[in-house]
Amino acid sequence: MNTRLRSQDWFGGNDLNAFIHRSWMKNQGIPDRMFDGRPVIGICNTHSELTPCNAHFNDLAEQVRLGVVEAGGFPVVFPAMSLGETIIRPTTMLYRNLVSMDVEESIRANPIDGVVLLCGCDKTTPALVMGAASCDLPTIVVSGGPMLNGRHQGRTVGSGTSVFEMSEAVRAGCMSECEFRSAESAMSRSPGHCNTMGTASTMASIVEALGLTLPGNAAIPAVDSRRRVLARDSGVRIVEMVVENLTMSSVLDRRSFENAIRINTAIGGSTNAVVHLLAIAGRLEIPLELSDFGEQGRDVPLLVNLMPSGTFLMEDFFYAGGLPAVIAELGDSLHRDARTVTGKSLGENNRDGVVWNHDVIRSKESPLRDNAGIAVLTGNLAPKGAVIKPSAATPELLQHIGRAVVFHGIDDFTARIDSPDLDIEADDVIVLTDVGPKGFPGMPEVGNLPLPRRVLEQGVRDMVRISDARMSGTAFGAVVLHVAPESAVGGPLAAVKDGDMIELDVPRGVLRILIEDDELQQRLSCLERPKSSNTGGYQRLFVDHVMQADQGVDFDFLVGKRGTEVHGDNH
Ligand code: FES
Repeated sequence: MNTRLRSQDWFGGNDLNAFIHRSWMKNQGIPDRMFDGRPVIGICNTHSELTPCNAHFNDLAEQVRLGVVEAGGFPVVFPAMSLGETIIRPTTMLYRNLVSMDVEESIRANPIDGVVLLCGCDKTTPALVMGAASCDLPTIVVSGGPMLNGRHQGRTVGSGTSVFEMSEAVRAGCMSECEFRSAESAMSRSPGHCNTMGTASTMASIVEALGLTLPGNAAIPAVDSRRRVLARDSGVRIVEMVVENLTMSSVLDRRSFENAIRINTAIGGSTNAVVHLLAIAGRLEIPLELSDFGEQGRDVPLLVNLMPSGTFLMEDFFYAGGLPAVIAELGDSLHRDARTVTGKSLGENNRDGVVWNHDVIRSKESPLRDNAGIAVLTGNLAPKGAVIKPSAATPELLQHIGRAVVFHGIDDFTARIDSPDLDIEADDVIVLTDVGPKGFPGMPEVGNLPLPRRVLEQGVRDMVRISDARMSGTAFGAVVLHVAPESAVGGPLAAVKDGDMIELDVPRGVLRILIEDDELQQRLSCLERPKSSNTGGYQRLFVDHVMQADQGVDFDFLVGKRGTEVHGDNH
């Protein structure tokens, strides 16, 4: 190696500090030769039994470790706070930035030359990538892989998507609670993350699209032996990347993000990709704006027929060719010269991608839907923007004018939505306030609000819903999300009253409240906001520093790269 590794600042030499750094590490049985200047590879492990999607990660870490040793590196596994989407309260999004700080500081403070990020459940991917991006060492991502397909009573059951469907069926009286309960074990029958194109599968695809993983990362099921091979190969590759000094910022540029947006469109990916990509780009100081999602995704068709936009699941996607097949199919719609961690371009990596099942991965000539990108909306109700996923919505509702029925906070919604006294019809627009980044706080995934029972009983399964929240990547519906600025900071959503007419026009990118500007300004000037229940601790840090959805919901003081320079030592 030509350049001195930063790990040698700990392990090189013969002074007091070098003795201390090496000696205590040797209590693990590490031989002296491991400190001879070989690359030290940190393996960031988000294993936790409280994050079921990542509960198999110790095995994955072991495979990476084998690869690092095989390539002549020195592997060290370190933990990061893990975020189990289904378990954590009040919402994992409250902690994404905290985990990114954990990862960033862990990398910088330790003798690490390159890092492998083990990511799975929704927020673990963006959090780890954001933290590593601010350090900007050679970095490779290994995703944990999706669960196998779920089957129940002869039909396919997809994580999340089928739960929302079945829950509404129970509320509408079309499914018994006993059947609902028996579907639980049928849905989650193997290690891995959600098997739909929810946020975890989306982010696994996004990191592959960005070029941060070896080809094929996104779709290999968690339990398939090829997932272990990918982990081991990634361990080999990261050692080479350290030798080549292939840092994250030398891999990623604006082209990588444009590719990620386009691929997210082709796969029918989660709206959560918007806030996560904005935040990652912010860490790398790569210009990316909310409007880019509308512009870059506009002409891209939906090719991947997976729930919630389609029919199949990630296991089917893998057998059909996975992301390499999608990348090959998209052809010149992508920047094929974008760099990747392999040292080759995205085009070179995926040149041999083949579609094996055209029901699962459609051709560009016969897509599931044309112009399928996440739509960015603006207007007097969302001056800084809002998003909707048209591919997951009822097409007839994408141009709609309806009467607002307003709920202030999720407790208000839960208390009144099924009330027989509630004046609400299928054509109305449900508006929910106080569920944004600061207002909740943490911007939970409640935007896909359940419909009123009365409307469900009429056979209706979709209504226009608008909020400053996010929604699960596994969810569906005519759901407008991420309204910015949020209601809690005086955004116009807070001024909507029951009975106001709301216009949603997705083809024109418009979200408006149909009242005069003077009236809207007058209402905004005398808004009374509820007192914050923010009592202190981390939550205070969050509320004081979190940015709005159009800026990725990162903390203002975390934007940018800070490198890995450390001054001084403890001894
Ligand atoms: Fe972990 Fe869906 S709950 S990926």
